[in-house]
Amino acid sequence: MNTVFKIYRFDPESGRNPRYQYFEIDVTKGQTVLDALIEIKAHKDGSLVFRRSCRSGICGSCAMQINGLNKLACETQVEDLKSKTVTIDPLPGFKPIKDLAVDMEPFYDKLRAVLPYLINPDSPPTDKERIQSPEEFKMIELATSCILCGGCTSSCPSFWADKAYLGPAALVKAYRYVFDTRDRGYSDRSGVVNNKHGLWRCHTIMNCNDACPKHIFPTEGISLLKRKVVEEKY
Ligand code: FES
Repeated sequence: MNTVFKIYRFDPESGRNPRYQYFEIDVTKGQTVLDALIEIKAHKDGSLVFRRSCRSGICGSCAMQINGLNKLACETQVEDLKSKTVTIDPLPGFKPIKDLAVDMEPFYDKLRAVLPYLINPDSPPTDKERIQSPEEFKMIELATSCILCGGCTSSCPSFWADKAYLGPAALVKAYRYVFDTRDRGYSDRSGVVNNKHGLWRCHTIMNCNDACPKHIFPTEGISLLKRKVVEEKY
């Protein structure tokens, strides 16, 4: 099936404005958007820049906007798009570096801000695991499957309006530790999540739920965090 790929091109060193470039390739059944990008880079334009690593929906590096929706290129089959022209843009709201690659550093800074690790001064590390019941793990199971692709944060209008907003990915990470029964770091994290660029910027628009390739439903975790903050205060 001949398909046209309309791809965002941007090279800050060229001095040219961003533009779209069109490539037509023959796509076979089962080929993903990432396969198509790799073919275009290999046979049509070696200067095309995009990120990828695992090709299996695990590393999160191939997130991009495909026909207007944030998706993993390696998990999106071209045939399923049912589109003769596939439009590919970098993740919206993030600063483009070159073509489809965006600056992920501010996104990682926000993850670091919520202290994404177990804090428990009462239980220093030992050579044994810290036991948790299956029911306790159930509370955080979905949140642990985040692959940090950035698709959720990039899809969020509150983030577009306030670039200092932590965004759904960082808040889901905070949820993952706050609701981990082995963690005692709530007081360390509460100031980060409970401020004007934190939880309360979420207006339950729910774009993040649709964008998440792992179906984590960030909005639910954010709502539970909001409730926790209110309960702790009152
Ligand atoms: S290449 Fe790793 S998630 Fe797509």
